[in-house]
Amino acid sequence: MPKYDRERVARLFDGMTDAKSVTGEHTGMFGQSIPQIAGQVAFEKLALNHEDVLLDVGTGTGEKAIAAARICRQVIGIDVSRKSLERARMKVDRESLDNVAFVYGGFEDPCAELDLTPYGITKILAVYSLHHLSDQLKKESLTTLAALLRRPGRMVIGDIMFFEDPNEHREEFDEVGYDAGDTDFPCRVEYLTYCLEQIGADVHVEQIHPLVGVVIAEFV
Ligand SMILES: C[S@@+](CC[C@H](N)C(=O)[O-])C[C@H]1O[C@@H](n2cnc3c(N)ncnc32)[C@H](O)[C@@H]1O
Repeated sequence: MPKYDRERVARLFDGMTDAKSVTGEHTGMFGQSIPQIAGQVAFEKLALNHEDVLLDVGTGTGEKAIAAARICRQVIGIDVSRKSLERARMKVDRESLDNVAFVYGGFEDPCAELDLTPYGITKILAVYSLHHLSDQLKKESLTTLAALLRRPGRMVIGDIMFFEDPNEHREEFDEVGYDAGDTDFPCRVEYLTYCLEQIGADVHVEQIHPLVGVVIAEFV
């Protein structure tokens, strides 16, 4: 049975182009996909303002981080795929944005190559990235990330998360971008809520699909 393997996930995304991105903004002829909707709702729930400092975890090629940089004071996107980070930096070069940085770092070690503690992070975003981790690592990582967040602060997770039994939605796995446990290890929404409440967050959940949702965690 496959298990979370960070290097394997990194290689998978290193080899992926934007055209294959599940959450990207390019809409097909039938409108937005479920992952795109989850990404958009998560972004909106951040309610960004010009004073915010945003950390985007599992930023990929940086689409949401770059959109956020047009609003926020500072944005840092971290990811374990160095190729995705390179692509994100190339996009920034094409725009005249000097308030966004893309650096190597994971959920487990967000400060791997940049100490994020002096940044005064006010908001954290994770779109379609946390589900790659094992449940134990999800819990530990959420605790690590919450420690980087200023109070009051907000964390928003838009991702695959089970509201219902996934076996009853097998035909919808492709539609929601779930690979049935090869590199994707989503948990039940209650587990995410439990992890966040354990570390003092007020949690609100929006269901997008029986297998996808957005969790908003407020830290006061
Ligand atoms: C489906 S992509 C989503 C990218 C982006 N958030 C978006 O919405 O377009 C998942 C991303 O999570 C990253 N990822 C996987 N495991 C990670 C980890 N342990 N720490 C940080 N990022 C991770 C992958 O490298 C990939 O870039």
